[in-house]
Amino acid sequence: MSSAVPAETVKSSSRWARVFAALYDPLLWMGEKAGMGARRQDLLGRAGGRTVELGSGTGLNLPYYPDDLDDLILTEPEAAMRVRLARKVRHDQRPVRVLDASAERLPFDDGTVDTVVSTLVLCTVDDPDPVLREIERVLRPGGRLLFLEHVRSRSPRLARWQDRLAEPWRLFAEGCHCNRATLERIRSCGLRLDDVQESAWRGMPPLVRPLIMGEATKSGS
Ligand SMILES: C[S@@+](CC[C@H](N)C(=O)[O-])C[C@H]1O[C@@H](n2cnc3c(N)ncnc32)[C@H](O)[C@@H]1O
Repeated sequence: MSSAVPAETVKSSSRWARVFAALYDPLLWMGEKAGMGARRQDLLGRAGGRTVELGSGTGLNLPYYPDDLDDLILTEPEAAMRVRLARKVRHDQRPVRVLDASAERLPFDDGTVDTVVSTLVLCTVDDPDPVLREIERVLRPGGRLLFLEHVRSRSPRLARWQDRLAEPWRLFAEGCHCNRATLERIRSCGLRLDDVQESAWRGMPPLVRPLIMGEATKSGS
């Protein structure tokens, strides 16, 4: 049994947002096969309790969540994405909820969430710092952020290309910042960085290839 938002909300998206949402799964297909699917499985297998995902997009994470979560809430502010997400959720046997919410303003009380998931979202939000503060607010003490993000390259040469092509890439990829040093932003927020692995997103353009995956915990458990 799943609850989802009505399909009519797609009307509020721009034309390119609707095209991008339609292209999203095909564009990522090769990368998912080449290792991203396995990374999602590894990361999301660590989710527990009341779990909230930020910017769920078309729902590529959905198959990888454990069956025994207390609650699974997928948030997505972009209507064109949310319609596709709602469609996937409808075919899922678990009680999953889809909410229209931005990561900067989550509709949850302080300290009421066990796991927050962010995959390929901290690159797209306008500024990750308010989002990281909001994640810390909703997490209970001991609660965890699970993240999987593409980031600024450690190679100066590739980082220069990421800077040069940041603006056209942002326009193409609906606000994505390919040159963002997201790990440094997670390091400097109030959460404790427990685990981070760096790898490459094979099957995708070099601009978005450098990846980080890991966990950060809210102290005070
Ligand atoms: C690159 S997609 C990632 C989708 C999905 N998380 C995945 O792993 O495939 C970025 C997503 O972040 C969403 N997004 C953009 N701004 C956001 C915000 N301020 N708060 C939450 N999500 C946002 C976009 O609508 C889009 O669905």
